[in-house]
Amino acid sequence: MDVGRLPEIEGLARLRVCAEHVQGEAGHDYTRRPMRFSLSDDQREIQSLAREFAQAEIEPNAATWDREHGFAPELIGKLGRLGLLGVCIPEEYGGAGADFLSYVLVLEELSRADAGVGVTVAVHTSAVTLPILIFGTDEQRSRFVPPLARGESVGAFALTEPEAGSDAGALRTAAIPAGEGWSISGSKQWITNGSFAGTVLLFARTDPEMPGPKGVSAFILDGEHVRVTREEEKLGLNSSSTSDLAIEAAEVGRDRLLHEEGKGFAVAMATLDGGRIGIAAQALGITQAAYDVARTYALERRQFGQRIAEFQAVQWKLADMATQLDAARLLVYRAAWLKQEGRPHAEAGAKAKLFASEMARRQTAEAIQVLGGYGYTKEFPVERYYRDAKITEIYEGTSEIQRLVIARSILGLREREPA
Ligand code: CAA
Repeated sequence: MDVGRLPEIEGLARLRVCAEHVQGEAGHDYTRRPMRFSLSDDQREIQSLAREFAQAEIEPNAATWDREHGFAPELIGKLGRLGLLGVCIPEEYGGAGADFLSYVLVLEELSRADAGVGVTVAVHTSAVTLPILIFGTDEQRSRFVPPLARGESVGAFALTEPEAGSDAGALRTAAIPAGEGWSISGSKQWITNGSFAGTVLLFARTDPEMPGPKGVSAFILDGEHVRVTREEEKLGLNSSSTSDLAIEAAEVGRDRLLHEEGKGFAVAMATLDGGRIGIAAQALGITQAAYDVARTYALERRQFGQRIAEFQAVQWKLADMATQLDAARLLVYRAAWLKQEGRPHAEAGAKAKLFASEMARRQTAEAIQVLGGYGYTKEFPVERYYRDAKITEIYEGTSEIQRLVIARSILGLREREPA
């Protein structure tokens, strides 16, 4: 039957025509049958590998790394050897060749063990390695991507400046023509991995006459091109490094320009469209960890002669946590799937980050409440989850910026050209 005749057909017959039509269109192409809620065997395998590694090598050290403000330096080598620093990078460029959803699953597992490790890997992969792969020339791809994907070099994304946070287009770092290339000077702030990065994706203004987002270009710098001026003291996420950088007349050739001159802001925005899905996965991982501790505690802790899980007040907290975790997970995995299918994902990623990060802040606080006084102490990890969760509402775009991105999209206020 012909779907064009649908209005004429009634009830069950109409449904059958629709089903035949979908099957006919889909054939064996799984991308045409998107409504699947199970992971593939490969995705499960990568998830298990990341979980086992994170629970054995990261989680037992997380409290110490939080206290000492840094993970063990050998962790990078271990992550690299396991392929976890290049999960979604093609094998020909030194990566594991998995899809973006697999990468998101890895971030979730790492963040469940230690959110500082999660953001280190997230920035390295989605904010540095992927944009070089996507926007780089063949020469840039083969030169910069394999060392990043293998973990021989760690990446940092240098966009933010003291006067350019949410208003990223206001950045002042200047790239002035010098010889065949540019001389770059300026300062960057709150740069994740800044203190040990070997590759820095840096945004600078190549057109000083042009204010705002236009006139910005993206550059691939080496660690030696920047100087660390300060290590930030933070509320949480202490195992990750956040530093201020000075760029002092760094001389670079044309081979260091990523994408076209003056198109750097679009590179930054397209990068953040994907990066935000990773931060949403981080928020998901932190909340999962808090829920796991709260649930176990509620089933063990006895007050008034019974387990506190038997009180409705505690049951409702756990029910809300479990429900919101499910909702966040669906948003995050859908956004990841849209990205790997090459479909528009800015709105879906912003929604996933907005929901997951606000959930993480609320539900890690509720986990402390379930544990009561114990939750407020360092005897349990939930106070760390609470401190770590807060940043997910701020970096890679605050919740206010996510709402702006979503609002512009749903209201059709800005139609974007692909970068
Ligand atoms: N994809 C491609 N291009 C895009 C785009 C996108 N998603 N969004 C905007 N652009 C392009 C636009 O098309 C426009 O180009 P044209 O002028 O050629 O049309 C240009 O970029 C400017 O766009 P807007 O007019 O929308 O720019 P705006 O000044 O209104 O700002 C904004 C947009 C959404 C507020 C943006 O500034 C923003 O995202 N701010 C938040 C910054 C942020 O997320 N920082 C995170 C720092 S990194 C980090 O946190 C890492 C870490 O440590 C974890």
